[in-house]
Amino acid sequence: MTHAVKAPDSGAKNPKSLYGGTSSRRITVRDIAAAKERGEKWPMLTAYDAMTASVFDEAGIPVMLVGDSMGNCHLGYESTVPVTMDEITLLSAAVVRGTRRALVVGDLPFGSYQEGPVQALRSATRLVKEAGVGAVKLEGGERSAHQIELLVQAGIPVMAHIGLTPQSVNAYGGYPVQGRGEEAAAQLLRDAKAVQDAGAFAVVLELVPAELAAEVTRVLHIPTVGIGAGAECDAQVLVWTDMAGMTDGRVPRFVKQYARLREALGDAAKAFAEDVVGGAYPAEEHSFH
Ligand code: KIV
Repeated sequence: MTHAVKAPDSGAKNPKSLYGGTSSRRITVRDIAAAKERGEKWPMLTAYDAMTASVFDEAGIPVMLVGDSMGNCHLGYESTVPVTMDEITLLSAAVVRGTRRALVVGDLPFGSYQEGPVQALRSATRLVKEAGVGAVKLEGGERSAHQIELLVQAGIPVMAHIGLTPQSVNAYGGYPVQGRGEEAAAQLLRDAKAVQDAGAFAVVLELVPAELAAEVTRVLHIPTVGIGAGAECDAQVLVWTDMAGMTDGRVPRFVKQYARLREALGDAAKAFAEDVVGGAYPAEEHSFH
């Protein structure tokens, strides 16, 4: 897939900025660490295909997550649980091909790392070698620290994910806010420190109270990536279909919708259908003689 990476229209002045910077080489985990030192906030979006990824890359999104949210948003499953390594690998490779600048993070799906560090290394190695991702993400704090340690030792950058971990939906019985109450907050802090100590380069905080996320962000030297975790995180991530108004039905309260793509696409499909039925398409300029 070929496309030009244009500098995004941003007020950012630092050429090294993750968003709005002028460098067109691929972002690395060292750039992410430097942004935390500068106190710079950055955006992350999910992507599941080359064309959408190329749009976000041109818009200057510095980090793209091939999330297992593809289960709900792209593959038609009820949750992230059924997503397989084959599916994540195929779509991660597409997103890598669709991007020039973004750091592409591939999600390790449910069942691909819970057995232990060796299984995690096998799965992560596949994503790096076959799809070409620059980093992987996995869920869990203290419980996943050994996996993170081995991946990092093997040279694979790891983004951790704590707070609400959607792969545990069957254990939660839904998607409840995490870290409420003294003991739960203390556990979240222990999880955050455990993944940092294990070598994670960043940590997603999903659905945790804003005050707690702010405290984790202050305490850690690696960046926090919030989703439903308030404004104090170093970065923010949204599922792209939620962000762009493509998702069918209700979206979570923390989502801000920046477009109404579902409506726009539906209108385009209806206009096409009406033109075909009414004989307005194809017109003379669309025909060959
Ligand atoms: O799979 C995903 O999209 C995620 C984000 C919501 C962080 O894990």
